[in-house]
Amino acid sequence: MCGIIGYTGPHHALPVLTDGLATLQYRGYDSAGVVVAGADGLSVAKRAGKLANLTGELAGRSLPGRAGLGHTRWATHGEPNDVNAHPQLDPSGEVAVIHNGMIENFAELKAELLAAGHVFASETDTEVVAHLVADTYDGDLATAMRVVARRLEGAYALAAVHRDHPDVLVASRRQAPLILGHAEGAALLSSDVAGLIAHTRDVEALLDEQVAVLSPEGITVTDLDGLRVEGHRYQVDWDIEAAEKQGYAHFMLKEIHDQPEAVRETLLGRLDEDGLIRLDDGATDDDLRHIDKVYVVASGTSYHAGMVAKYAIEHWAGVGTEVEISSEFRYRDPILNPHTLVIAISQSGETSDTIAAAVHARAQQAKVVAITNVVGSSLAREADAVLYTRAGPEIAVASTKAFTTQIVALEVLALYLAQIRRALFPDECRDHLARMEALPALMEQVLGHEPMLAELARAFCHAQYVMFIGRQVGLPIALEGALKLKEISYVHAEGFPSGEMKHGPIALIEPSGPVVALATRGHVRDKVVSNIEQVKGRGAVVLAIATEGDTAIKEHADHVVYVPDVHELLYPVLTVVPLQLLAYFIATELGRDVDQPRNLAKTVTVE
Ligand code: M6R
Repeated sequence: MCGIIGYTGPHHALPVLTDGLATLQYRGYDSAGVVVAGADGLSVAKRAGKLANLTGELAGRSLPGRAGLGHTRWATHGEPNDVNAHPQLDPSGEVAVIHNGMIENFAELKAELLAAGHVFASETDTEVVAHLVADTYDGDLATAMRVVARRLEGAYALAAVHRDHPDVLVASRRQAPLILGHAEGAALLSSDVAGLIAHTRDVEALLDEQVAVLSPEGITVTDLDGLRVEGHRYQVDWDIEAAEKQGYAHFMLKEIHDQPEAVRETLLGRLDEDGLIRLDDGATDDDLRHIDKVYVVASGTSYHAGMVAKYAIEHWAGVGTEVEISSEFRYRDPILNPHTLVIAISQSGETSDTIAAAVHARAQQAKVVAITNVVGSSLAREADAVLYTRAGPEIAVASTKAFTTQIVALEVLALYLAQIRRALFPDECRDHLARMEALPALMEQVLGHEPMLAELARAFCHAQYVMFIGRQVGLPIALEGALKLKEISYVHAEGFPSGEMKHGPIALIEPSGPVVALATRGHVRDKVVSNIEQVKGRGAVVLAIATEGDTAIKEHADHVVYVPDVHELLYPVLTVVPLQLLAYFIATELGRDVDQPRNLAKTVTVE
């Protein structure tokens, strides 16, 4: 929810921190702050609003020092104002703390401190940690952090600096991401690798209930008893350019255009030397051959990718599949056993609801396969096996390339299950994979409709309400099209199974109201056309997404965007692209902040 960055090394810390915050802004952007430790103590600057407010405040000020922490916030406790921005300090100003997560027992801890005479400046849970660390400190910040961490309930990634040790940073985490960066004569920490790749690719994931001490001499990691432990250290293969806009007006537009390459990368090397489909790491064929039930768990856009997977797994592998919103999964009693496969999907690999669903499933002996974009993420570590999407960093809050790469990864997994269960012959699996490998070139063709979608956006942008309808694999795309539009344009949009319209939602149709219909070739195409007629009869203006060559659709729809003809299960990878572009152009027409829409954060690490 928040972005955190830390640096200690030979250079002035402030530019490293502000550059890091610029990269991490997508994690939260309602206030930002920095603390720099120098010979004269801790210098702090913080401002409500976007990072630009903080950098404006810092212009002309130098915060001297070679170590420091930065934070960009998505508020959980206390409104987003200057005082509640991080860092939070203890009353004497000797300890500064930044935090991502939620301390669930903060009210109890605060009451105890108030009773002891502490006075609080902010409404945040983080300030409680700063007071506790300062109270516990007895010359060693790491020991104080270990003692305090034991008292905290909830999820946190914490980093602290003490004015007595101006080149040392101390960090700890539980159920919130924190990545350490090893560099020549320097050490860094960040909520994710995007904040580190300008400095190093040699990174280490801090694990739950560990404490890291960072200094220019290096990083040491201990458990909460102070015993040295090994973290999970690995090399990042993302380029710094991948985390930049490369001339596009917004990250979202760049990431929409990244999709052909991202899908190509995700499909690379999926056949072994015997011509059989293979996964990345983990679960054995024996684990997966005998499964008799699949649950797919995910949130938001990843959930919509999971809906597509249901069709592929049931059709190709013949295993009954249910798709669940991850925040709901562990609050009912799903029947889980060693013959159950749970597929947990998360771009970031840090969505707490999805991680909790995976942990719950493993505790019941189910096998868990993670589909994630982030190597070393918490979800990847919690799973029995991982299938990585190779989309590169996704910065825009609205997920695009993660979605299409998740679909192809899930379909590779469906083919793998079909192969080991002998539901398909190996050459049938290879044929399907070959059809998937043709998708990137076809996506390029669909991206060619960008000017038409920009024009349609001008026609639709003043609508009160946009409805998206589809059936079978068109349904998840209708839901995804609506989610994209509402999250970045704030236009009310909903997706519906088109056959359900007559059971209620059709009452919403008003003359000239836009309806986007997924009407590609396949066994439900004619049914969707009937549903289009029903909304047309009530005055709707219909944009159909249809298959090239389907000239008849023009008799039913006011506007048509064509996509190339592909296997029915592969359409989602193509049909979502015009809907992403439509949402993007409607949002830009309305002057919205496309990459950082209001009230949202890229990664939801709280429940
Ligand atoms: O990182 P995850 O895939 O777990 O994120 C899940 C959702 O928070 C995410 O897809 C969200 O719905 C996006 N903002 C949608 O564009």
